[in-house]
Amino acid sequence: MNMPNLKEAKKRTKNKVEVKKYSLKNEYKNSLKDKTFYIKTYGCQMNEHDSENMRAILKELGMTEVLNFEDADLIMLNTCSIRENAHNKVFGMLGRIKHLKQTKKDVVVGIAGCMAQEEVVVKEILSKYKWMDFVIGTHNIHNLGEIIVNSFNEKKLKIEAESQEGDIIEGMPVERTSKYKAFVNIMYGCDKFCTYCIVPYTRGKQRSRNKEQIINEVKELVKDGYKEVTLLGQNVNAYGKDLNINYNMANLLEDVAKTGIERIRFMTSHPWDFTDEMIEIIAKYDNIMPSIHLPVQSGSNKILKLMGRRYTKEEYLKLFNKIKEKIKNVSISTDIIVGFPGETESDFNDTLTLVNTCKFDLAYTFIFSKRVGTPAEKMLDETPEEEKEQRLYKLNELVNKYALENNKKLEGKIVKVLVEGKSDKEGFLMGYTETNKLVNLKANEMLIGKIINVKILEAKTWSLNGEYVK
Ligand code: 5AD
Ligand code: SF4
Repeated sequence: MNMPNLKEAKKRTKNKVEVKKYSLKNEYKNSLKDKTFYIKTYGCQMNEHDSENMRAILKELGMTEVLNFEDADLIMLNTCSIRENAHNKVFGMLGRIKHLKQTKKDVVVGIAGCMAQEEVVVKEILSKYKWMDFVIGTHNIHNLGEIIVNSFNEKKLKIEAESQEGDIIEGMPVERTSKYKAFVNIMYGCDKFCTYCIVPYTRGKQRSRNKEQIINEVKELVKDGYKEVTLLGQNVNAYGKDLNINYNMANLLEDVAKTGIERIRFMTSHPWDFTDEMIEIIAKYDNIMPSIHLPVQSGSNKILKLMGRRYTKEEYLKLFNKIKEKIKNVSISTDIIVGFPGETESDFNDTLTLVNTCKFDLAYTFIFSKRVGTPAEKMLDETPEEEKEQRLYKLNELVNKYALENNKKLEGKIVKVLVEGKSDKEGFLMGYTETNKLVNLKANEMLIGKIINVKILEAKTWSLNGEYVK
């Protein structure tokens, strides 16, 4: 049993990051041929990509994926810890699974992901969810094969989720969800320790992948016909800082651009590490998409300081304006938290003012959620919940107004769209513009997987409608 431990999770040492090679023992390969699995993924793209790795490992065991959890021999939830409601969804789902397990005793049930790295969660599982079979942390994914084989052989709760700063595992198998768009990890973990955020504890210290491995992965994707890569990390702009080599995110972006992949995106940027050199490279290469996610979190300097964000609203605006000025037709999206401890009406108004200045293309907005073990957990939080909800409502109204306004500017224009597949909207296909806007369009299904010209006919707050033009 390897339990997560909050104190250990906070540690950052100068210890070298080990790069290990993934392998699965021969005796495990195809050893679960008659078994099926179900994976449900919560949270961010990092988690989605982890699920792509886990799916591939389970297939190496010979297992087959099913889309209903009731039909599965193995049910695995890849969890997220970012806010309380992510927790609640998982515990709600576990309630339904417990019900199933009463009639289907042999089903193997476990959680992976960020909740598995939380000491409080694992303690709760040990006391109230003993019927579960395994907990596997973010640092242990490469051992999934062994853990699953053991779980089928031995009905006893196994915890493999020790807190560590983390290694890098290369050569993990991957079963990608899309044939056209791929996630590529460029770094893991985070050392920023924003005071509200749990990620540095659940994902370990910042560690960059070797540039050759990244570029080779992208080259392989190009060969396989992929059109788009998203370079993933909790704080991608800090890429390379931990490697002590003279090579940074701007260099990496340039080298990835030179592979010839048609579209490059990257997530998530922290304003702190966003350099002029990066802006120049993004502006220079047509295949680096003019779409930047730049979380601001608050428009109040007092709150930014309490959040430990390391910039003022003036510094954010300076960067924002520089990006807008240098990168042609760039779209900028953001994340905003309301109701952070100590946020007064006047602090909140500062956030509204900043939104009025930036007129973001898109903003993801959240009410502050207390996370166990973070510094903000202990901060005095006097704002009543209803007040926070009203702030969120007001903010959303403003954010939506600008999203629609920005989208309206595209009406009548012709934009490039990577067509990904059928839309939820009957009779339409869907894809994204270079600026990362969702488009529902009328076009022949033969165009799926292609980048085509689309005339925008109608703009809505969250999407655009268009038609294919030659
Ligand atoms: N409460 C509310 N929102 C949070 N986020 C991160 N931690 C918290 C929290 N404790 C938001 C931030 C971040 C996004 C991924 O989630 O805005 O950028
Ligand atoms: Fe959720 Fe953050 Fe973990 Fe992603 S890294 S799964 S957003 S807690």
